[in-house]
Amino acid sequence: MPDVVDVLDLDKKDMIKIFELAEDIEYKKLHKSKWCALENKTVSLLFVEPSTRTRLSFEESAKRLCAHTLTIVGEEASSFVKGESLYDTIKVLDKISDIIVIRHNLDGSAKYASEVAANPVINAGDGKNQHPTQSLIDLYVVRKRKGGLEDLRYAVVGDLRYARTARSFLLALTKFKPRSVYLVAPEVLKPSIKFLEELKSMGLNVFEVDRLEDVIPNVDVIYVTRIQKERFPDPSEYEKVKGSYKITLDLIKRGKGDLIVLHPLPRVDELDVRIDSTPHAAYFDQVAASVPVRMATLAWSAGVV
Ligand code: CP
Repeated sequence: MPDVVDVLDLDKKDMIKIFELAEDIEYKKLHKSKWCALENKTVSLLFVEPSTRTRLSFEESAKRLCAHTLTIVGEEASSFVKGESLYDTIKVLDKISDIIVIRHNLDGSAKYASEVAANPVINAGDGKNQHPTQSLIDLYVVRKRKGGLEDLRYAVVGDLRYARTARSFLLALTKFKPRSVYLVAPEVLKPSIKFLEELKSMGLNVFEVDRLEDVIPNVDVIYVTRIQKERFPDPSEYEKVKGSYKITLDLIKRGKGDLIVLHPLPRVDELDVRIDSTPHAAYFDQVAASVPVRMATLAWSAGVV
């Protein structure tokens, strides 16, 4: 049964299948009732790093599918503090559950867990590497709001060096051939040349630009992330760059009438709360979509659909 460790583990067909299943779940309101696709199965939720949305929505999704859930939140609540290795922890969870959902601060930890576990592993965010189920939610919302995913123009704004959500989102976009993707980031938060080359080699029309103002009249979707304070190797570097960009209502008004703004959340100060009450705001739609999309992903990964 398939892992969801890297967003590129899913091809376009898999993603569309998950979107259509999530749509069905949403349309039939199965996310508000019970669809017991995982009855008698157990989902382990290993959240070593803090989370609000991802943990709660995975827990809710598993419960809506009638699975049992086993949750570890934080190293201090587990035998990690006694020195137990990630290897042994995954071995234990693999013996007593059918799917493992893992969030961890180390890049590559989900991949490692998938190599240790016999059962499917779902990456709920590994360090600054990837957050594939967030990308599924992001694309699901774009698809719903724009009526499709082909031929759109995007601006991806903010921390493009450390934000795993932006990284996963850009990799996921390579499957859908957008018309153009503009990257807007302060100097120290620009993506690496290696990553840019990787995106280009996968056919993404990606361009670095200095100012969002220069491209905003042309874009259909803005994807913004907060600065990932916790990932800076040197805290003084964070101090230099914090508060260096903000998506304001005035800026959004310069865009198309149907421009949408995505943010994986949490936000700090990079997104004006006055946008929340406008039709441009899609970030709480992302939260609303998180349960149907994660229900669909769990069912897909368990091989029951
Ligand atoms: N978007 C997201 O991953 O949020 P949490 O860190 O709260 O799970």
